[in-house]
Amino acid sequence: MARDINREPDPIDSWMEVTLVYNSALKEIGTKLEILNDEFQQVHRYNPIEHIKSRMKTSESIVKKLKKKGYESTIENMVEHVNDIAGIRVICSFTSDIYRVAEMIGNQNDIKVLSIKDYIKNPKASGYKSYHMLVTVPIFLSDKMVNAKVEIQIRTVAMDFWASLEHKIHYKFEGNAPEHIKNELKECARMVSDLDARMLALNEEIRSLEDNEFV
Ligand code: GTP
Ligand code: MG
Repeated sequence: MARDINREPDPIDSWMEVTLVYNSALKEIGTKLEILNDEFQQVHRYNPIEHIKSRMKTSESIVKKLKKKGYESTIENMVEHVNDIAGIRVICSFTSDIYRVAEMIGNQNDIKVLSIKDYIKNPKASGYKSYHMLVTVPIFLSDKMVNAKVEIQIRTVAMDFWASLEHKIHYKFEGNAPEHIKNELKECARMVSDLDARMLALNEEIRSLEDNEFV
């Protein structure tokens, strides 16, 4: 029987299948991103993506998250309530690239965008900035089709640098970092935003000079 991506997806029904499906989803989205980057390189001689990191949530973290949300550890609950079993982080040079990549991904008609959280326009209280997309991608197995959720985080190199350190500090102090450290992090977040804006302006100026050379 032909597998139509518009038909109702099948359920995921074992832990082995969870691993297989979400790993496959990471590959699918990873390849889509690489193709877009390659095309951009050919057409515009420029890479919007610096690099890509992907990870599968460990079974321990999945169980912990379900517990925290008050759900039993069942396959159904994992698939339904844990949105970041498959996570992919896309690191771009410039803020403009983030929106470009997000739009190109969102426009692909096998991908369904479930939600978007723009922590660049609306940073978190911590100072965290990043663009989050929760999407589903169809995965075709030998005798069924399932939809897998993937959490895509898109950020600049500078935002990533900040988020890595903040994450480390958050862990070290179990969420209760001293006030002066929190304030220093917020100040660094402001510097990150300023740096991103200035690097973008510089890049645009340079690109306009390059364009003129061909006139
Ligand atoms: P989680 O239950 O933590 O996954 O959060 P959520 O479902 O409310 O989604 P949200 O978009 O807030 O966060 C998803 C992910 O973004 C987290 O798992 C982190 O990887 C990252 N993130 C969100 N907030 C912060 C932050 O303040 N600092 C850092 N370093 N990372 C963050
Ligand atoms: Mg998470």
